Amino acid sequence: MRNEVVATANEVLATIMNHRSIRKFTNERLTQAQIATIVQAAQMAASSSFMQSYSIIGLTDPALKRELRDTTRTPYVEDNGHLFIFCADLHRVGVMGSEEDQQQMSGMLASAAFYQIAVVDAALAAQNAVLAAESMGLGAVIMGSVNRDIKRLDEMLQLPAHVMPLFGIAVGVPDQEPEIKPRLPMDAVYFENRYAPDAEQRARIEAYDLGIERYYQTRSENNRAGGWSGANIAKLKTNMPLQGLTDFMRSKGLNVT
Ligand SMILES: Cc1cc2nc3c(=O)[nH]c(=O)nc-3n(C[C@H](O)[C@H](O)[C@H](O)COP(=O)(O)O)c2cc1C
Repeated sequence: MRNEVVATANEVLATIMNHRSIRKFTNERLTQAQIATIVQAAQMAASSSFMQSYSIIGLTDPALKRELRDTTRTPYVEDNGHLFIFCADLHRVGVMGSEEDQQQMSGMLASAAFYQIAVVDAALAAQNAVLAAESMGLGAVIMGSVNRDIKRLDEMLQLPAHVMPLFGIAVGVPDQEPEIKPRLPMDAVYFENRYAPDAEQRARIEAYDLGIERYYQTRSENNRAGGWSGANIAKLKTNMPLQGLTDFMRSKGLNVT
């Protein structure tokens, strides 16, 4: 339905509506021109206060990629055409400041408010990067799993204070053609003037759960049982060890609780 409505309206929309994460790539490396195009497309995203508060690190050293593959237990961390690590970066903006400036900035730089700005900037840049790659016939997947051992990643990339690794993006020539993953119905996501009551949402989500269950059961790879709500509620009920992330952020000068 959504494809019929907009996907063919223009090439940008066609690329957006055709998105699916790619987790298997041929062994072709990205060219320098492809890398530069992806990074410069990322840089054209909007940026809060024009602070451009993110950095992108290309991980090309085979030994480092192998190590990251091992800690994440994710083959496509290593087997891809190029691996980008996106970081929230509140360090570069103050590089030109004096020592006194650094001290006076430290309160703001540690705040949840500026951390949020940096994360949003990085996320917008990342989506531009993914779309740029997809528009060139490449595939991509965003990977939070690169943070599994965040201290080691921080050390590997030699990140200064106020720079926080967020996620990786593996890009390459697709060696699989997964089906598009159906999204929530639009009326479960877009409301006018007020948030939707749960009673309305339940009916929409119930229908979506059935649809996505069918999708998981019938897709060509990685079939599984269950729907959308059940899986996410189960995840949110687990006792994920999150203290490590909070402690790590503090160690980077980000006093977010
Ligand atoms: C912040 C973020 C982190 C993600 N982390 C991972 C990951 O660690 N491993 C993975 O295989 N996919 C990861 N994904 C991809 C999602 O699983 C995927 O986008 C989602 O299931 C929707 O599927 P689609 O992208 O194919 O439409 C991540 C996506 C985002 C936005």
